[in-house]
Amino acid sequence: MITGLRTFPSKSRSVSSTAAVNADKTAKSARKSIGGDPISLPQQNHRPRNLLVAFTEVVVPFLHASLQKKMSIWKLSSTFYASSCSNVSAVVRNVVQQAQNSDVRIVASLLRLHFHDCFVNGCDGSILLDNSDSIQSEKDALPNKNSVRGFDVVDDIKTAVENVCPGVVSCADILALAAEASVDLAGGPTWVVLLGRRDGTTANPTAANNMPSPLDDLDTLKQKFSDVGLDDTDLVALSGAHTSDCKKVN
Ligand code: HEM
Repeated sequence: MITGLRTFPSKSRSVSSTAAVNADKTAKSARKSIGGDPISLPQQNHRPRNLLVAFTEVVVPFLHASLQKKMSIWKLSSTFYASSCSNVSAVVRNVVQQAQNSDVRIVASLLRLHFHDCFVNGCDGSILLDNSDSIQSEKDALPNKNSVRGFDVVDDIKTAVENVCPGVVSCADILALAAEASVDLAGGPTWVVLLGRRDGTTANPTAANNMPSPLDDLDTLKQKFSDVGLDDTDLVALSGAHTSDCKKVN
């Protein structure tokens, strides 16, 4: 169980804007490639693929939008760990793949975990923080409790990453990498993950309780999306993606 999050060792955060622009272009090109041949997942649970392929139409812009606030403070980069942990993506992907072998749903759950992290004060890994004297965990918020899952796999990823690069990679970046690996492993597109997030040291259960809800009316949903830089197209795409689970969405 992760009880505390690491922050980065101090290092320069100046990153070429070209890297960010290229990453953005790659991401857009990946999104355009959606719609090719469907890739089958094992039949016992087809929901993750349906959701994931639909979500990836919006997940990349969502991640970019949710990072905008932080990027005004420092820039993220696809090469952030190039010298300090060059194989982090492969390590993360390997653990996700192992988990998927015994739990085909996990790829959907890891993507959702990243979304639930990012929607609350940006992608800072705060959803991973457990209750303590000073922290009221976001895990107990209504949208998360008995619903968001995959924490054990994140713990496994963290252990694997720490084994090769101790004290280097943030948990927030691990969630971002796990989400991308999950979408890829589910048959969705890939995208370049921008890295260099700092881990939050505080949780925000109030904001977590205010996540978009299937019970929200349209104006409320539009406002909640707008608050994090997402537009009506993103909202429609995401809501449509959930029609595979429509009994829970008004
Ligand atoms: C209007 C905004 C949204 C609402 C109201 C919403 C609501 C829900 C609900 C009620 C579930 C079922 C949870 C359960 O069975 O316990 C769900 C599942 C899921 N959601 Fe959303 N969601 C929204 C946006 C998003 C976004 C932005 C993403 C990803 C980028 C996402 C990814 C997923 C995934 C992957 C699942 C399946 C998770 C699993 O099977 O473990 N959702 N969502």
